[in-house]
Amino acid sequence: MSADLSTQSPSPAPAVQVDGLGRTFGSGPNRKVALDRVNLTVKVGEIHGLLGPNGAGKSTLSRILSTIIVPTSGTARVMGHNVATDPSAVRRSIALVLGGDRGLYGRLTPQENLEFWCVANGVRGRRRAQERAKQALERVGLAGVDRRVESFSRGMKQRVHLARALAVEPDVLILDEPTMGLDPVAALALRRLVLDARAAGSTVLLATHDMAEAQAICDRVSLLDAGRIGFSATPAELRRQSGGARVRFDEPLPSGVLQQVHVALSRLDGGLQVTEENGTTTITVPQPQQMAGVLNAVLATGTTAFAVMPPSLEDVYLAAVGDRGLHVD
Ligand SMILES: Nc1ncnc2c1ncn2[C@@H]1O[C@H](COP(=O)(O)OP(=O)(O)OP(=O)(O)O)[C@@H](O)[C@H]1O
Ligand SMILES: [Mg+2]
Repeated sequence: MSADLSTQSPSPAPAVQVDGLGRTFGSGPNRKVALDRVNLTVKVGEIHGLLGPNGAGKSTLSRILSTIIVPTSGTARVMGHNVATDPSAVRRSIALVLGGDRGLYGRLTPQENLEFWCVANGVRGRRRAQERAKQALERVGLAGVDRRVESFSRGMKQRVHLARALAVEPDVLILDEPTMGLDPVAALALRRLVLDARAAGSTVLLATHDMAEAQAICDRVSLLDAGRIGFSATPAELRRQSGGARVRFDEPLPSGVLQQVHVALSRLDGGLQVTEENGTTTITVPQPQQMAGVLNAVLATGTTAFAVMPPSLEDVYLAAVGDRGLHVD
Protein backbone atom coordinates (compact mmCIF):
# COMPACT_ATOMS: atom_id res chain seq x y z
CA MET A 1 0.00 0.00 0.00
CA SER A 2 1.43 3.35 -0.89
CA ALA A 3 0.56 6.49 0.96
CA ASP A 4 1.51 10.09 0.57
CA LEU A 5 3.45 10.64 3.77
CA SER A 6 3.51 14.37 3.26
CA THR A 7 -0.22 14.52 3.97
CA GLN A 8 0.12 12.38 7.10
CA SER A 9 2.89 14.01 9.10
CA PRO A 10 2.63 17.70 9.88
CA SER A 11 5.35 19.58 8.03
CA PRO A 12 7.99 21.06 10.35
CA ALA A 13 7.82 24.75 11.22
CA PRO A 14 9.51 26.82 8.54
CA ALA A 15 13.03 28.18 9.08
CA VAL A 16 11.84 31.66 8.10
CA GLN A 17 8.24 32.85 8.27
CA VAL A 18 7.49 36.42 7.27
CA ASP A 19 3.92 37.76 7.44
CA GLY A 20 2.76 41.18 6.32
CA LEU A 21 6.23 42.56 6.94
CA GLY A 22 6.70 46.28 6.42
CA ARG A 23 9.65 48.60 6.85
CA THR A 24 9.83 52.30 6.13
CA PHE A 25 12.73 54.69 6.40
CA GLY A 26 12.51 58.43 7.06
CA SER A 27 9.38 60.51 7.41
CA GLY A 28 7.35 63.17 5.62
CA PRO A 29 8.40 63.74 2.03
CA ASN A 30 11.52 61.60 2.63
CA ARG A 31 9.51 58.57 3.75
CA LYS A 32 10.56 55.50 1.83
CA VAL A 33 8.70 52.19 1.90
CA ALA A 34 11.43 49.56 1.66
CA LEU A 35 9.21 46.55 2.42
CA ASP A 36 5.46 46.51 1.82
CA ARG A 37 3.38 43.69 3.34
CA VAL A 38 5.90 41.00 2.47
CA ASN A 39 4.92 37.35 2.99
CA LEU A 40 7.63 34.74 2.65
CA THR A 41 8.15 31.17 3.83
CA VAL A 42 11.51 29.44 3.71
CA LYS A 43 11.40 25.75 4.57
CA VAL A 44 14.01 24.07 6.73
CA GLY A 45 16.87 22.76 4.61
CA GLU A 46 16.08 24.92 1.59
CA ILE A 47 18.41 27.24 -0.31
CA HIS A 48 16.12 30.18 -1.00
CA GLY A 49 17.20 32.85 -3.45
CA LEU A 50 16.11 36.44 -2.99
CA LEU A 51 16.17 38.21 -6.34
CA GLY A 52 15.27 41.75 -7.27
CA PRO A 53 16.53 45.02 -8.69
CA ASN A 54 18.66 47.54 -6.82
CA GLY A 55 16.62 49.11 -4.03
CA ALA A 56 14.00 46.31 -4.04
CA GLY A 57 14.40 45.63 -0.31
CA LYS A 58 16.58 42.49 -0.24
CA SER A 59 19.16 43.87 2.19
CA THR A 60 16.42 45.42 4.33
CA LEU A 61 14.78 42.00 4.66
CA SER A 62 18.15 40.31 5.36
CA ARG A 63 18.90 42.92 8.03
CA ILE A 64 15.50 42.45 9.70
CA LEU A 65 15.96 38.67 9.76
CA SER A 66 19.42 39.21 11.27
CA THR A 67 17.94 41.55 13.96
CA ILE A 68 20.13 44.47 12.82
CA ILE A 69 17.01 46.58 12.24
CA VAL A 70 13.42 46.10 13.37
CA PRO A 71 10.32 45.95 11.17
CA THR A 72 7.77 48.77 11.26
CA SER A 73 4.84 46.36 10.81
CA GLY A 74 4.10 42.67 10.46
CA THR A 75 6.09 39.78 11.89
CA ALA A 76 9.19 37.82 11.02
CA ARG A 77 10.22 34.56 12.68
CA VAL A 78 13.48 32.67 12.35
CA MET A 79 13.38 29.07 13.57
CA GLY A 80 10.18 30.03 15.35
CA HIS A 81 11.70 33.02 17.16
CA ASN A 82 10.19 36.45 16.63
CA VAL A 83 12.88 38.91 15.47
CA ALA A 84 11.26 41.81 17.33
CA THR A 85 10.48 40.15 20.67
CA ASP A 86 13.17 37.49 20.90
CA PRO A 87 16.19 38.83 19.01
CA SER A 88 18.81 37.00 21.07
CA ALA A 89 17.26 33.61 20.24
CA VAL A 90 17.22 34.64 16.56
CA ARG A 91 20.88 35.63 16.76
CA ARG A 92 21.79 32.22 18.13
CA SER A 93 20.10 30.60 15.12
CA ILE A 94 21.68 32.62 12.32
CA ALA A 95 24.89 33.71 10.69
CA LEU A 96 25.00 36.64 8.32
CA VAL A 97 27.38 37.31 5.47
CA LEU A 98 27.16 40.77 3.96
CA GLY A 99 28.79 41.86 0.75
CA GLY A 100 31.74 44.17 1.39
CA ASP A 101 34.32 44.21 4.10
CA ARG A 102 32.58 45.58 7.20
CA GLY A 103 32.55 43.80 10.53
CA LEU A 104 36.01 42.24 10.63
CA TYR A 105 38.80 43.17 13.03
CA GLY A 106 41.46 44.55 10.72
CA ARG A 107 44.33 44.16 13.15
CA LEU A 108 43.65 40.48 13.75
CA THR A 109 44.57 37.55 11.52
CA PRO A 110 41.72 35.51 9.98
CA GLN A 111 42.32 32.76 12.53
CA GLU A 112 42.10 35.27 15.41
CA ASN A 113 38.99 36.89 13.92
CA LEU A 114 37.26 33.54 13.71
CA GLU A 115 38.30 32.33 17.16
CA PHE A 116 36.94 35.53 18.64
CA TRP A 117 33.73 35.13 16.68
CA CYS A 118 33.29 31.47 17.69
CA VAL A 119 33.68 32.28 21.40
CA ALA A 120 31.25 35.21 21.08
CA ASN A 121 28.77 32.83 19.43
CA GLY A 122 28.76 30.20 22.10
CA VAL A 123 31.48 27.78 20.93
CA ARG A 124 32.84 26.54 24.28
CA GLY A 125 36.54 26.19 24.99
CA ARG A 126 39.59 27.76 23.32
CA ARG A 127 40.76 24.51 21.70
CA ARG A 128 37.36 23.92 20.15
CA ALA A 129 37.18 27.50 18.86
CA GLN A 130 40.69 27.16 17.39
CA GLU A 131 39.74 23.94 15.66
CA ARG A 132 36.45 25.32 14.26
CA ALA A 133 38.24 28.46 13.00
CA LYS A 134 40.98 26.42 11.34
CA GLN A 135 38.52 24.10 9.60
CA ALA A 136 36.37 26.98 8.33
CA LEU A 137 39.41 28.81 6.96
CA GLU A 138 40.54 25.64 5.20
CA ARG A 139 37.15 25.45 3.50
CA VAL A 140 37.53 28.94 2.02
CA GLY A 141 41.17 28.45 1.01
CA LEU A 142 42.68 30.72 3.67
CA ALA A 143 44.33 28.12 5.89
CA GLY A 144 47.65 29.38 7.25
CA VAL A 145 47.28 32.90 5.81
CA ASP A 146 48.74 34.51 8.88
CA ARG A 147 48.57 38.25 8.40
CA ARG A 148 46.27 41.04 9.45
CA VAL A 149 42.92 41.11 7.71
CA GLU A 150 43.35 44.85 6.97
CA SER A 151 45.98 43.89 4.38
CA PHE A 152 43.52 41.65 2.52
CA SER A 153 41.85 42.38 -0.81
CA ARG A 154 38.08 42.79 -0.81
CA GLY A 155 37.49 39.26 -2.07
CA MET A 156 39.81 37.80 0.56
CA LYS A 157 37.89 39.67 3.28
CA GLN A 158 34.70 38.31 1.80
CA ARG A 159 36.09 34.81 2.24
CA VAL A 160 36.85 35.55 5.91
CA HIS A 161 33.21 36.64 6.33
CA LEU A 162 32.06 33.42 4.80
CA ALA A 163 34.39 31.31 6.95
CA ARG A 164 33.03 33.13 9.98
CA ALA A 165 29.50 32.14 9.05
CA LEU A 166 30.48 28.52 8.40
CA ALA A 167 32.44 28.24 11.65
CA VAL A 168 29.33 28.52 13.82
CA GLU A 169 27.22 26.04 11.81
CA PRO A 170 24.06 28.15 11.94
CA ASP A 171 20.50 26.89 11.52
CA VAL A 172 19.93 29.69 9.03
CA LEU A 173 22.68 31.20 6.90
CA ILE A 174 21.78 34.62 5.53
CA LEU A 175 23.96 35.68 2.62
CA ASP A 176 23.56 39.15 1.15
CA GLU A 177 25.41 39.20 -2.17
CA PRO A 178 28.15 36.91 -0.92
CA THR A 179 29.91 36.64 -4.28
CA MET A 180 30.37 40.40 -4.53
CA GLY A 181 34.10 40.91 -5.00
CA LEU A 182 34.96 37.23 -5.33
CA ASP A 183 36.99 36.05 -8.29
CA PRO A 184 35.29 33.43 -10.53
CA VAL A 185 37.05 30.48 -8.88
CA ALA A 186 36.13 31.71 -5.39
CA ALA A 187 32.55 32.42 -6.52
CA LEU A 188 32.24 28.88 -7.81
CA ALA A 189 33.74 27.55 -4.58
CA LEU A 190 31.14 29.57 -2.69
CA ARG A 191 28.36 27.71 -4.48
CA ARG A 192 29.93 24.46 -3.29
CA LEU A 193 30.12 25.77 0.28
CA VAL A 194 26.46 26.82 0.23
CA LEU A 195 25.50 23.33 -0.98
CA ASP A 196 27.69 21.81 1.76
CA ALA A 197 26.01 24.04 4.36
CA ARG A 198 22.62 22.75 3.19
CA ALA A 199 23.89 19.16 3.34
CA ALA A 200 25.04 19.82 6.91
CA GLY A 201 21.51 20.90 7.82
CA SER A 202 21.55 24.68 7.39
CA THR A 203 18.80 26.62 5.69
CA VAL A 204 20.14 29.32 3.39
CA LEU A 205 18.66 32.66 2.36
CA LEU A 206 20.73 34.02 -0.50
CA ALA A 207 20.20 37.53 -1.85
CA THR A 208 21.91 37.66 -5.21
CA HIS A 209 21.99 39.40 -8.57
CA ASP A 210 23.70 36.41 -10.13
CA MET A 211 20.93 34.54 -11.94
CA ALA A 212 23.19 31.69 -13.03
CA GLU A 213 24.14 31.18 -9.38
CA ALA A 214 20.48 31.24 -8.31
CA GLN A 215 19.47 28.83 -11.07
CA ALA A 216 22.32 26.47 -10.18
CA ILE A 217 21.87 26.17 -6.43
CA CYS A 218 18.52 27.55 -5.24
CA ASP A 219 15.64 25.19 -4.37
CA ARG A 220 13.26 28.15 -4.53
CA VAL A 221 13.58 31.79 -5.48
CA SER A 222 11.47 34.81 -4.62
CA LEU A 223 11.41 38.04 -6.53
CA LEU A 224 11.33 41.15 -4.37
CA ASP A 225 10.32 44.14 -6.44
CA ALA A 226 9.74 47.62 -5.03
CA GLY A 227 9.28 46.15 -1.56
CA ARG A 228 6.76 43.49 -2.58
CA ILE A 229 7.04 39.81 -3.39
CA GLY A 230 6.48 39.27 -7.12
CA PHE A 231 6.86 35.51 -7.40
CA SER A 232 8.03 32.66 -5.19
CA ALA A 233 8.66 29.32 -6.90
CA THR A 234 11.32 26.81 -7.90
CA PRO A 235 13.60 27.93 -10.75
CA ALA A 236 12.33 24.97 -12.82
CA GLU A 237 8.67 26.01 -12.30
CA LEU A 238 9.43 29.58 -13.29
CA ARG A 239 11.31 28.53 -16.38
CA ARG A 240 8.54 26.16 -17.41
CA GLN A 241 5.68 28.56 -16.67
CA SER A 242 7.22 31.49 -18.49
CA GLY A 243 6.21 29.80 -21.76
CA GLY A 244 9.08 31.31 -23.72
CA ALA A 245 12.11 29.52 -25.08
CA ARG A 246 15.57 30.00 -26.48
CA VAL A 247 16.87 28.80 -29.80
CA ARG A 248 20.62 28.25 -29.60
CA PHE A 249 22.98 27.57 -32.47
CA ASP A 250 25.94 25.45 -31.49
CA GLU A 251 28.24 26.61 -34.25
CA PRO A 252 28.97 30.18 -35.29
CA LEU A 253 26.54 31.17 -38.06
CA PRO A 254 28.07 32.45 -41.31
CA SER A 255 27.44 36.20 -41.43
CA GLY A 256 25.15 35.85 -44.48
CA VAL A 257 22.94 33.36 -42.64
CA LEU A 258 22.94 35.50 -39.51
CA GLN A 259 21.78 38.44 -41.56
CA GLN A 260 18.97 36.36 -43.10
CA VAL A 261 17.88 35.37 -39.59
CA HIS A 262 17.89 39.01 -38.47
CA VAL A 263 15.82 40.07 -41.48
CA ALA A 264 13.32 37.23 -41.05
CA LEU A 265 12.92 37.91 -37.32
CA SER A 266 12.44 41.64 -37.83
CA ARG A 267 9.23 40.76 -39.71
CA LEU A 268 7.88 38.91 -36.67
CA ASP A 269 6.25 40.44 -33.61
CA GLY A 270 8.42 42.23 -31.02
CA GLY A 271 10.36 41.00 -28.03
CA LEU A 272 12.63 38.67 -29.98
CA GLN A 273 16.28 39.09 -29.14
CA VAL A 274 19.35 37.81 -30.89
CA THR A 275 22.52 37.70 -28.78
CA GLU A 276 25.97 36.54 -29.70
CA GLU A 277 28.42 35.36 -27.09
CA ASN A 278 31.62 33.39 -27.59
CA GLY A 279 30.63 32.39 -31.11
CA THR A 280 27.22 31.11 -29.98
CA THR A 281 24.09 32.77 -31.30
CA THR A 282 20.94 32.64 -29.20
CA ILE A 283 17.45 33.82 -30.08
CA THR A 284 15.30 34.60 -27.05
CA VAL A 285 11.62 33.96 -27.79
CA PRO A 286 9.41 35.48 -25.06
CA GLN A 287 6.02 34.11 -26.21
CA PRO A 288 5.23 30.49 -27.17
CA GLN A 289 3.05 31.63 -30.10
CA GLN A 290 6.15 33.21 -31.68
CA MET A 291 7.94 29.86 -31.81
CA ALA A 292 6.56 28.59 -35.15
CA GLY A 293 7.49 31.82 -36.92
CA VAL A 294 11.00 31.77 -35.46
CA LEU A 295 11.60 28.13 -36.39
CA ASN A 296 10.31 28.72 -39.93
CA ALA A 297 12.63 31.71 -40.27
CA VAL A 298 15.59 29.69 -39.01
CA LEU A 299 14.87 26.60 -41.14
CA ALA A 300 14.46 28.77 -44.24
CA THR A 301 18.18 29.57 -44.00
CA GLY A 302 19.01 25.85 -44.33
CA THR A 303 20.53 25.71 -40.85
CA THR A 304 19.73 22.64 -38.77
CA ALA A 305 22.41 22.74 -36.02
CA PHE A 306 20.34 24.37 -33.30
CA ALA A 307 18.64 23.41 -30.07
CA VAL A 308 15.42 24.68 -28.50
CA MET A 309 15.76 25.15 -24.74
CA PRO A 310 13.62 26.48 -21.92
CA PRO A 311 14.36 30.06 -20.90
CA SER A 312 17.00 30.60 -18.26
CA LEU A 313 16.16 32.10 -14.87
CA GLU A 314 17.80 35.26 -16.15
CA ASP A 315 15.32 35.36 -19.06
CA VAL A 316 12.44 34.92 -16.58
CA TYR A 317 13.84 37.67 -14.35
CA LEU A 318 14.36 40.06 -17.26
CA ALA A 319 10.83 39.40 -18.51
CA ALA A 320 9.47 40.19 -15.01
CA VAL A 321 11.42 43.37 -14.27
CA GLY A 322 13.34 44.23 -17.41
CA ASP A 323 10.85 46.58 -19.01
CA ARG A 324 11.62 49.24 -16.40
CA GLY A 325 15.25 49.26 -17.47
CA LEU A 326 17.55 50.89 -14.93
CA HIS A 327 14.93 53.02 -13.20
CA VAL A 328 15.28 53.12 -9.40
CA ASP A 329 12.69 54.84 -7.18
N1 LIG B 1 19.09 53.31 6.27
C1 LIG B 1 18.29 53.70 5.28
N2 LIG B 1 17.79 54.95 5.22
C2 LIG B 1 16.96 55.33 4.23
N3 LIG B 1 16.56 54.53 3.23
C3 LIG B 1 17.03 53.29 3.22
C4 LIG B 1 17.93 52.79 4.23
N4 LIG B 1 18.22 51.50 3.96
C5 LIG B 1 17.56 51.19 2.82
N5 LIG B 1 16.85 52.26 2.38
C6 LIG B 1 15.99 52.31 1.18
O1 LIG B 1 15.17 51.15 1.18
C7 LIG B 1 15.05 50.65 -0.14
C8 LIG B 1 15.49 49.20 -0.17
O2 LIG B 1 16.90 49.15 0.01
P1 LIG B 1 17.70 47.78 0.11
O3 LIG B 1 19.11 48.12 0.48
O4 LIG B 1 16.97 46.86 0.98
O5 LIG B 1 17.62 47.28 -1.40
P2 LIG B 1 18.35 46.01 -2.08
O6 LIG B 1 17.28 45.19 -2.70
O7 LIG B 1 19.24 45.35 -1.11
O8 LIG B 1 19.17 46.71 -3.22
P3 LIG B 1 20.62 46.32 -3.86
O9 LIG B 1 20.36 45.28 -4.89
O10 LIG B 1 21.07 47.59 -4.48
O11 LIG B 1 21.52 45.86 -2.75
C9 LIG B 1 15.87 51.57 -1.05
O12 LIG B 1 15.00 52.51 -1.62
C10 LIG B 1 16.82 52.22 -0.08
O13 LIG B 1 17.15 53.52 -0.54
MG1 LIG C 1 21.29 44.99 -1.03
